[in-house]
Amino acid sequence: MLEDDISDRFTQDPLRFLEAHFPHDGGVVRIGAAEYALGDPIAARDVLRNADGRYREHSDFFHSRHGDFGPRAAQLKIRRDARTLVRDLLQRQDPQALRALVDQRLAEVSEWPDAGNRLVYGYLSPLLLAPDSPPKLRALLDRIVERAVLANARARQPRWRRMLLQFQTTFQLSSAIEARQRAHRPQPQDLLDVVAGAAEPGQRLDELSEIYLSFLFAVAGSVGFVLAWSLYLAGTHPRRDVPADWVVREALRLWPVAWQLGRRPTAAHAVAGTDVTTTDEVVVCPYLVHRHPDYWADPGAFRPERWAAPEAWQNPAFIPFGHGPHRCVAADLSQALVAALYTAIEADHALVVTPHDTRPTIAAAMAPPPFRLSRRPRTPATAVREEGCPAAGARPSAATPGRRDARRAVPMTMRSDPRLQPQGETT
Ligand code: HEM
Repeated sequence: MLEDDISDRFTQDPLRFLEAHFPHDGGVVRIGAAEYALGDPIAARDVLRNADGRYREHSDFFHSRHGDFGPRAAQLKIRRDARTLVRDLLQRQDPQALRALVDQRLAEVSEWPDAGNRLVYGYLSPLLLAPDSPPKLRALLDRIVERAVLANARARQPRWRRMLLQFQTTFQLSSAIEARQRAHRPQPQDLLDVVAGAAEPGQRLDELSEIYLSFLFAVAGSVGFVLAWSLYLAGTHPRRDVPADWVVREALRLWPVAWQLGRRPTAAHAVAGTDVTTTDEVVVCPYLVHRHPDYWADPGAFRPERWAAPEAWQNPAFIPFGHGPHRCVAADLSQALVAALYTAIEADHALVVTPHDTRPTIAAAMAPPPFRLSRRPRTPATAVREEGCPAAGARPSAATPGRRDARRAVPMTMRSDPRLQPQGETT
């Protein structure tokens, strides 16, 4: 295959391309002239751990248009302070209040994944901006979520509008960060304080703005998409009586939102049998790692019950939050939050998922196909009706993108699990 041809075919339909080559062609799939997708679980962990320094030390989270934000000491301070804020907010979480918020913010019929992003953004907005922040700044974040975070948001905007938003974002966020630096609060009140407080002397404000945007995308984008995937998969498969966190983990395994983690080699070497040089990019691909047939039985199937086995929790082929020094600082907290939201959405309600498509939205993050969620208070009558409902529904399929025969609506149920409580610090 010619190099341009490889790159074109990968770009046109990345998942189909990857599945055509993995794992038959080995643990590495060439996806461009100098790009390799890595699906071998052990090699993937080695690359991310980077114990022998064969890769430049960096992560997508701290990467901006100006290069890698640093030094690492500043990144570590941001990690610590951000985790403390998220943990404190979630520890104050009251399941009843969460249910009330879901009832208040989620319409009886809602369109997903957008509804999930908006719900999570609304819930975590005090984490992003403390309540005393200027309304104009809050309005800016609202616009960024609508025009840049939602699945396919970029395609929904004309170019001039995207450029205008980019300009407004850089300008307003930079001024806000400068103001926070002047105010110098001893304890960060929100993630804007966290970013402002980690700046080295002379650090560019627009670079700091981009790091803050990484938080916005993680909070409103990634968490919202994982919630949407969980609802989508549970609602398009036979009904199960399993803990919510098994569903969330299975959603993260099958459709990891962060499906590509790029790394740059510092020296020529072989990775999973493929030679790479310093001009190449090795893209660790959780999507492939999570579907490796040597590590998972029936890897393409949605089977939340697999998480009943203690060994599943130790499986090395599960890296939805990365691995090693750059592993997501909010991994356990995010999973617990999604499971808690899931439980709040499901509690005392009959849910029906109606997919509009089977094709995931593939961009930097992987979002589920659009679907409608009907959520009606459960009555004894609906509970009886549900018992007799058909089980199988449409499943997202990389092999058959665009199929529109997926309009079967499937009711679902879920019981909550005590392990949903936020866990202790692991990072
Ligand atoms: C379910 C939602 C989330 C997913 C799937 C996710 C995924 C990831 C992944 C894969 C990485 C590693 C990136 C790499 O190695 O290149 C990462 C890093 C990171 N994440 Fe998350 N994340 C989520 C939510 C969050 C939230 C809510 C926060 C904080 C509010 C957060 C903060 C971070 C930070 C600070 C890093 C940087 C680590 C470093 O380079 O030291 N993430 N995340």
